[in-house]
Amino acid sequence: MEKDKKSSHGDKKEKKDKNKKDKDKKEKKDKDKDKKEKKDKDKKDKEKKEKKEKKEKKDKEKDKDKEKDKDKGIELNQQSKNDDDGKVRSIKLSDYEMGDTLGTGSFGRVKIAKNKKTGEFVAMKIMKKIEILKSKQADHIANEIKILSMVHHPFVITFGGFTQDEKNLYLDLELINGGELFTYLRGVGRFPLDQARFYICQIICIFDYLHGKDIIYRDLKPENILIHKSGYLKLTDFGFAKIVEGRTYTLCGTPEYLAPEIILNKGHGKPVDWWTCGILLYEMIAGIDPFSDDDPMMVYQKILKGKIKFPSGFDSNAKSIIKHLLDADLTKRYGNLKNGVKDITGHRFFKNVEWDKLLKKEIEPPYIPKVKSDDDVSNFSQYPDSDTPAPQIKKEEDPFLDWFQ
Ligand SMILES: Nc1ncnc2c1ncn2[C@@H]1O[C@H](COP(=O)(O)OP(=O)(O)OP(=O)(O)O)[C@@H](O)[C@H]1O
Ligand SMILES: [Mg+2]
Repeated sequence: MEKDKKSSHGDKKEKKDKNKKDKDKKEKKDKDKDKKEKKDKDKKDKEKKEKKEKKEKKDKEKDKDKEKDKDKGIELNQQSKNDDDGKVRSIKLSDYEMGDTLGTGSFGRVKIAKNKKTGEFVAMKIMKKIEILKSKQADHIANEIKILSMVHHPFVITFGGFTQDEKNLYLDLELINGGELFTYLRGVGRFPLDQARFYICQIICIFDYLHGKDIIYRDLKPENILIHKSGYLKLTDFGFAKIVEGRTYTLCGTPEYLAPEIILNKGHGKPVDWWTCGILLYEMIAGIDPFSDDDPMMVYQKILKGKIKFPSGFDSNAKSIIKHLLDADLTKRYGNLKNGVKDITGHRFFKNVEWDKLLKKEIEPPYIPKVKSDDDVSNFSQYPDSDTPAPQIKKEEDPFLDWFQ
């Protein structure tokens, strides 16, 4: 210790010199640093400027492209993203009086119900908690409720609100009494071309709107499309809908309507909805879906093979748009290309469609269902009312309790 101190005293001058040297060194270092920083900043500024110029050039080119495409197809110009807060409304179960079953689903059934306060009839989608838990679908149902609250479109059912008890979840949906497109299509066999076009145009409007909100629907099929008493369509069942900006991987949908990228589990996104439009259009015109088979495995094989057989006399314009929609190659599938929906609306199959009028429901529908009163359910199949009641879920095991509080 002592030794250290001493030496320290004896080094005083040397230390002073050293300090001066260090100071000079530091000043030089600081100067160099300043110089380097300035140089870096200049470089960054230059890069920024170049990037900005590049972006401006690209935007200009895009605008030019847009101008060029203007008269090719029609942009449907519907509501854009975030047009409301999407808050989930809650309802009171005691306000409703349950009636007959309209349809059955994976987790329960949909019943007509009367809102005793307003006197209005609604469709109550009742889903058993136990069944949802068994099949691990809680996330999908949460999506369904969230998305129904965000979606406001003339061709989509309106969502009235959500509630639950110990056994079930309850979704209040606008009642559509014209029945399923499925029942009607099976009844008549197939639709004349104009009728098929009238319906598919509405689905295109819906998907364009949903995709604008980054929502994919993923479950198009005639069972999920209802006919309003006006003759226009209303899409129901958002059980597989999802908000997604890129790709997602869950296998879901109905075998005959699955896009190849879903079967191959490659990850899928908005283009799957355009694929299902191709299947639906084919099914409406031919009366049977293009990859139909009694064995689901064969259905998958046919989809992956991608060979579409058209019955003789199938309209050539319809054939063409269907082939563009049922293209396994995502870089070629219509709806997924640079021009988006305009490649579809601009196709010659839709040449005479007045999209604006359609959206305003100003076109006379080809078929008006018979609906005698607001509570008429005669357009739906009859279901025996012997549904086994769902078991109660214990409070501590119930993951739904805090939903949308
Ligand atoms: N708003 C509504 N108005 C009238 N009927 C409806 C309505 N919503 C649904 N339904 C009927 O109930 C059936 C089942 O509803 P939904 O498709 O939503 O249930 P799901 O459990 O998701 O069905 P799945 O999983 O089998 O497709 C429909 O196919 C339809 O017949
Ligand atoms: Mg359904």
